[in-house]
Amino acid sequence: MEDLRFVMTEQKAVEEIRRAIEKAPLLSANAQRLMQITADTDHELGDVIDIVKCDATLTARVLRVVNSAAYDLLNPISSIDRAVSYLGERMVTCIAIGDSVGNLMNRPMAGYQAAAGELWRHDLFTAFAAREIARCARGDMTIDLAFTAGLLHDIGKAILSEFLHGSAENLVGDIDAGHVENYLGGEKKLLGMDHAEIGLELAKSWQLPTPLQSAIAFHHEPQRAPEEDRLLVYAVHLGDIIAMMNGFGTGSDSMQYQLDQGYQDYLEFDTKQLPGIILEATELFRQAEASLTQNQETES
Ligand SMILES: [Fe+2]
Ligand SMILES: [Fe+2]
Repeated sequence: MEDLRFVMTEQKAVEEIRRAIEKAPLLSANAQRLMQITADTDHELGDVIDIVKCDATLTARVLRVVNSAAYDLLNPISSIDRAVSYLGERMVTCIAIGDSVGNLMNRPMAGYQAAAGELWRHDLFTAFAAREIARCARGDMTIDLAFTAGLLHDIGKAILSEFLHGSAENLVGDIDAGHVENYLGGEKKLLGMDHAEIGLELAKSWQLPTPLQSAIAFHHEPQRAPEEDRLLVYAVHLGDIIAMMNGFGTGSDSMQYQLDQGYQDYLEFDTKQLPGIILEATELFRQAEASLTQNQETES
């Protein structure tokens, strides 16, 4: 494929990107409902269990995950109520998202020089790190919402990647030379849209709750998020950087973004807490990754 910066005008690129967004897989109705319910601070675990019970495929997958070797249970769990309680709503949401748009998130991303599965692993690590960071919130927040936001924050890359093909080195060069501030700026300069804007378009088409839309749209620029969503957005912002610091990036754009120090107004987070947060996120990530991978292998 030729370097698109020479063959495509910005307007044409934006048109093609919008067409690709329209053609992107849809989120399943139950994944959508799960995200709407869990974004509501008043919801109960029973609401999540009710959705899973009405979906035979999701029920089967949740039971497979909880009974996978990764959780090392003494006795298998056969009740969906117990399975959901054990895994927590974050893992149930993760399974539902993986079921409907997992292929999109597992694609190789040549535009970012990232192999198949790298985006999914980056998103999953970010999700756990964001959830740990959310525990430091100065205000009220549902920590599992930070997990879901982390899981979806870079979804725009799955679309943008094919338009960036062949441009990664030029983009990093532009940042080094100071022509653009960061990778996001490079994407925008090259194609007229960046992965955060594309993610927002997808989030709107999937009818995600507005806090999740904000986390996707502003995860690199939290100060631009609406005030009411900024705590969540900062949790994802830090979770994202922690994932990249730990080697869970997405190829060429890893560590090509700035840390926004404004998080201190929203999170009582001290860098001394970082090793503990990384340790916890890494352990949960490994367990989740193993349980989900085993789940896929059993089915194939
Ligand atoms: Fe991003
Ligand atoms: Fe990211």
